[in-house]
Amino acid sequence: MYNVGIRRPRIEDSEELNQFFSTVIRDTFAREGLSEWHDDIENEIEAKKQYLKYDLDSNGKSRYFLIAFDKKSNKVIGTIEYGQASELINICTNGALKGMFEIGTVFVLPGYQSRGIGTLLLNAMFLTFLGNGVQEFCLDSGYTNSQKIWERKFGKPDYLLKDYWSQGTDHMIWKRSTKDMTIIFK
Ligand SMILES: CC(C)(COP(=O)(O)OP(=O)(O)OC[C@H]1O[C@@H](n2cnc3c(N)ncnc32)[C@H](O)[C@@H]1OP(=O)(O)O)[C@@H](O)C(=O)NCCC(=O)NCCS
Repeated sequence: MYNVGIRRPRIEDSEELNQFFSTVIRDTFAREGLSEWHDDIENEIEAKKQYLKYDLDSNGKSRYFLIAFDKKSNKVIGTIEYGQASELINICTNGALKGMFEIGTVFVLPGYQSRGIGTLLLNAMFLTFLGNGVQEFCLDSGYTNSQKIWERKFGKPDYLLKDYWSQGTDHMIWKRSTKDMTIIFK
């Protein structure tokens, strides 16, 4: 395990974080075999930059990020955030989760993945939820690799949109209660 710290982002982290989003998103699309989906890649990067800006502009009220950093080098190696469920979630659930908080931007830098950093970020977020009185949350994924990871953590999704992105590429949405999440702490 790396010597990992968790903290809130600061304005001076913006450039590194925006570069981090670009690196993780390009790598994730490539691993999914979707490197040619240029518009989707750019849209996804822009959406994450915007979320970070919302956080920094509102001091965590519109979106709320936590970042994981390598304590030796101070390099950003992971992110997680929460905020109102996205338009995509609202559309896919016919508005059933409208107003619920969504956990998103759970990103770990390639090369640091599969070493427990995503789990650490999720646990930090659950503690934040417990502290803020957030009782329910949702999260979604269209990436087949992370869907497998979320299924291990959260079980079967509550909404499964078959072939949503393309033939064989589904979209999944989980709705969970914060108190149930203590079972995955480890
Ligand atoms: C998804 C992601 C955040 C998970 O973070 P991580 O640090 O790699 O995951 P962890 O090491 O904490 O492992 C989490 C669980 O998934 C399992 N896992 C990790 N990598 C895996 C892999 N490649 N295949 C299958 N299972 C895997 C681990 O065994 C662990 O299971 P456990 O809790 O039962 O022990 C990270 O891999 C990532 O950033 N992926 C690219 C971006 C992405 O898809 N983000 C999610 C958007 S919805």
